[in-house]
Amino acid sequence: MNRLNSKIALITGAGAGIGAQIARRFKEEGAKIIINDVRIDAAENMAREVDGSAIAADVSDSSAVRSMFERVNEEFGRLDILVNNAGIAFDGNTEEQTRRLTEVPLQQMAELQAGGPIETHADVTVEVTDEQWHRMLGIHLNGTFFCSREALKIMNPQMSGCIINMGSIMGTTGGVAPHYCAAKAGIMGFTRSLAREVVTRGIRVNALAPGFIDTELVEPFGDARRLIEAQTPMLRFGDTDDIAWPAVYLASDEAKFMTGQVISPNGGFVMSQ
Ligand SMILES: NC(=O)c1ccc[n+]([C@@H]2O[C@H](COP(=O)([O-])OP(=O)(O)OC[C@H]3O[C@@H](n4cnc5c(N)ncnc54)[C@H](O)[C@@H]3O)[C@@H](O)[C@H]2O)c1
Repeated sequence: MNRLNSKIALITGAGAGIGAQIARRFKEEGAKIIINDVRIDAAENMAREVDGSAIAADVSDSSAVRSMFERVNEEFGRLDILVNNAGIAFDGNTEEQTRRLTEVPLQQMAELQAGGPIETHADVTVEVTDEQWHRMLGIHLNGTFFCSREALKIMNPQMSGCIINMGSIMGTTGGVAPHYCAAKAGIMGFTRSLAREVVTRGIRVNALAPGFIDTELVEPFGDARRLIEAQTPMLRFGDTDDIAWPAVYLASDEAKFMTGQVISPNGGFVMSQ
């Protein structure tokens, strides 16, 4: 309780999933919450739940992001915490992407077990369109940059603040989603660069790199879920609190010596990031 007393926190993509749970935990710890989501209904519902404010904006749209932070400055006059959480995993033909995630690895395993060469291939990169590539990087990487840039216009003069960026183990390990993995890896580089830059202003910048977490984002995994669980030493997906509590820690004064770091709750899937 009270680890974030009276802090003003903006969480992007907080209308559902991990962001929503971060909002709930931040609220319990005494923060005043601003919920961003591209879906206005989801943002407003969540804002009601945490007695906060809702601002609908697409984080990949720099002018919408600028307006959002101008509103934050007008209404609150300060910003203590920004969580760059908004994201997508699937885009376009979800059915085909799901097939690549589910059927392809299972088929490859069957071919290996049968002693033969692998004849089924994922072939993802040749199928990614310009639009899909730009949209994925636009939401994750550009969105993180746009929101951080605008947040710093408030945090720099106040000489304090905390930014938490949402990476993924996929940014380190890779996976059958080249645009998602590239965006998440980019977020890690951005986190470290920004952490060095703004440390002189008393602003800390860190990242979370979750493993597989039970939210709508991973629903299309279907049967591949069992495969992932079997590869995870803890034999399960994480729940949203597995990410929300580390976010509380990073946002709190307990993490006052932490900057440019990555915390990766992943059930042991990857043992170093
Ligand atoms: N669930 C996982 O296994 C997992 C693992 C690693 C990282 N992550 C990352 O965690 C973050 C949250 O994922 P989640 O699992 O909670 O997903 P989710 O789908 O449950 O929630 C994502 C939220 O972001 C919102 N959103 C999407 N595009 C947006 C945009 N352009 N602007 C503003 N809001 C937008 C959605 O409307 C949704 O409410 C993402 O960055 C994701 O890449 C998730």
